[in-house]
Order: sequence, then C-alpha cells, then structure tokens
Amino acid sequence: MNDNFAHRAAEWDTPQKTKMTEIFVTEMLRKINPISSWKALEIGAGTGLVGLQIANMVDTVVFEDTSAAMLDVLKQKLTENSRVKIVHGEVYDYKEKDIDLIFSCMALHHVPDIDRTLQHLATITNKGAIVVIGDLRTENGSFHRFEPIPHRGFDTDILSEQFKSAGFEVITAETYNILSRERTEGVITDYEQFILVAIKI
Ligand SMILES: C[S@@+](CC[C@H](N)C(=O)[O-])C[C@H]1O[C@@H](n2cnc3c(N)ncnc32)[C@H](O)[C@@H]1O
Repeated sequence: MNDNFAHRAAEWDTPQKTKMTEIFVTEMLRKINPISSWKALEIGAGTGLVGLQIANMVDTVVFEDTSAAMLDVLKQKLTENSRVKIVHGEVYDYKEKDIDLIFSCMALHHVPDIDRTLQHLATITNKGAIVVIGDLRTENGSFHRFEPIPHRGFDTDILSEQFKSAGFEVITAETYNILSRERTEGVITDYEQFILVAIKI
C-alpha cells in the first residue's frame, strides 16, 4: 500500500493544520448533532486531528487511513480509555454494517474511485446515517504541486449526483472556508473548501 504521507506524518500537526480541522469541525457541528450512541467512521483520518474532536460526543470512532505513519502518530495520542478503532487500509477494509456517521476532511481527493467508495459507504451505514465531507472545490492542480493526486478537488454538483446514485440524499454542499496559499512564489491562490452533508436513504 502506498504511503504518500510517511515523510510528513511526524510534522503533520502544525497550528495551521489544527486550525483547518477546527474550522471543519465547527462547521460540521453547525449542521449535525452527534448522538452519544453513534458509531462514527472517519475516512483518511490521518493523525486524528478531526476525529479526536468528535470522539467524546459519540460511542466509538473508527479511524481509517492508508498511511501507517499517520496512524502511528494518532496511536500516540490515545489513552487506554479511548473508545476508538483503527483501520489501516482502504475504506473497503471496513466491512461491518453499523455506521451512523461518516466524516472526512481533506482526504477524499486522495481516494481514487469515488463511485466505488460511495457505494461501499452505502453498504456499511445504517438507514438515516449522515456523511459529512470537507474537501476542495475544483482547483487547477496547484494545491498539490508535486504529488500524484487522483482528484484536483471536486465539482460538488457532480459529487452530489454520485452520492445520489449511491443511495444518499444530499442536504447541502456549500463553501465553508477559503484557504489562501502561496504555492507559487509571490502568488497567493485562494482554494475553496466545501462541506457536503448527505443522508443514507
Ligand atoms: C490531507 S491528509 C488529511 C488528514 C486528516 N483528515 C486531517 O485533516 O488532518 C489526507 C489523508 O488521507 C489519507 N489517504 C490517502 N489516500 C487514502 C485512501 N485511499 N483511503 C483513505 N485514506 C487515504 C492520507 O494517508 C492522509 O492521512
């Protein structure tokens, strides 16, 4: 399994990344109210910057990621009492059909096959389960300058149709944040982040 984040894991938790995940979680919690009995799954959980903010609001969080190095950083943050599970692998490797909430921040653009992924999410979720995705709107490829990347962000109209085809109702897909980044020297580019909320029908 490719681990394109192995060389970045140890330095992942910067104030900038932490802030970015806090903005996502704040927006997510404006849109949903987690319930203490829920089992949640995070796709591309990385070092847990998002999921650890949710962990005490639900029964269990399953942290899924293809990067062993990112998950190793997460494991160092866990205590004996942490109600978490870790899945090192693709989301298809989680096969139980018991998920009430799925969330993902800045990871879906790394996942090659979106249709297959959404179809899998439909099989592992309970009826009425909520999916919350935070990611980039379509960009020109400059966000990841040197990395191989399956998706240069997403057109949320197309992504919403993919969700509908997989058996979800899309509640909203709206911009919630702008990332201003200097990817080319002297040029500041604004990258829009959207939040998409869908419900399993
Ligand atoms: C930009 S990082 C975001 C990490 C975390 N969500 C955060 O906001 O800090 C993307 C994460 O997606 C993971 N990833 C890449 N390809 C993946 C895949 N096919 N399935 C699941 N996770 C993947 C990477 O290993 C990395 O941890």
